[in-house]
Amino acid sequence: MNLVNVKKVTLRKLEFSDCSRMMDLVNNKNITKNLLDRFPIPFTFKHAHRFIENAKTTKLATVFGIEYKGEYVGNIELMHGQDVYRKGATLGYFIGEEYWNRGIASAAVKMMIDYSFKYLDFIKINALVFDKNIASQKVLEKSGFKVEGILRKAVYKNDEYLNEIHYAIFLDNYS
Ligand SMILES: CC(C)(COP(=O)(O)OP(=O)(O)OC[C@H]1O[C@@H](n2cnc3c(N)ncnc32)[C@H](O)[C@@H]1OP(=O)(O)O)[C@@H](O)C(=O)NCCC(=O)NCCS
Repeated sequence: MNLVNVKKVTLRKLEFSDCSRMMDLVNNKNITKNLLDRFPIPFTFKHAHRFIENAKTTKLATVFGIEYKGEYVGNIELMHGQDVYRKGATLGYFIGEEYWNRGIASAAVKMMIDYSFKYLDFIKINALVFDKNIASQKVLEKSGFKVEGILRKAVYKNDEYLNEIHYAIFLDNYS
């Protein structure tokens, strides 16, 4: 299923034909500095292939490629909570730098939340953001997420300790 919105943003399944573009988009320190270390530099074709293979087969996450005006520009994923966390899920995303500040992530996040609350059995979506990542905080706040708390020095990234802001949005006050 493809989800399309008025901003010409589409969420669709990732395909192996996205590997080399994904490699190009992620191979950028301005992207990886705000992501988990499973997105290293260099981010090789092999890393992209493994990511897409996992996205196609896993039952533990819902993963989409993001298209803008028909072009693949990034990914958005929802990691499904397990065990006692199974009614919640955690959001992650990136947009290639050349496409920043056009509202693409904000549109993709809204579409992913709509999809999750409509088709998946979650009552809460979490998003964990490094405190220096103002753009992502803006995206979440524009999409209705609220801060639940700040975990100090929760992250060790690029030889530095970072605080992490925990955001969430709930099904019962989402319209
Ligand atoms: C975070 C990210 C996904 C945003 O993508 P995007 O498509 O540019 O996002 P949008 O255009 O929807 O919104 C970005 C907002 O942040 C604002 N912004 C961007 N950089 C900013 C900065 N340094 N300071 C303040 N605001 C900033 C933009 O002005 C925009 O707000 P506005 O719509 O009110 O003007 C993108 O920067 C990215 O991929 N970063 C690296 C990976 C990452 O951080 N992923 C999220 C991990 S939690």
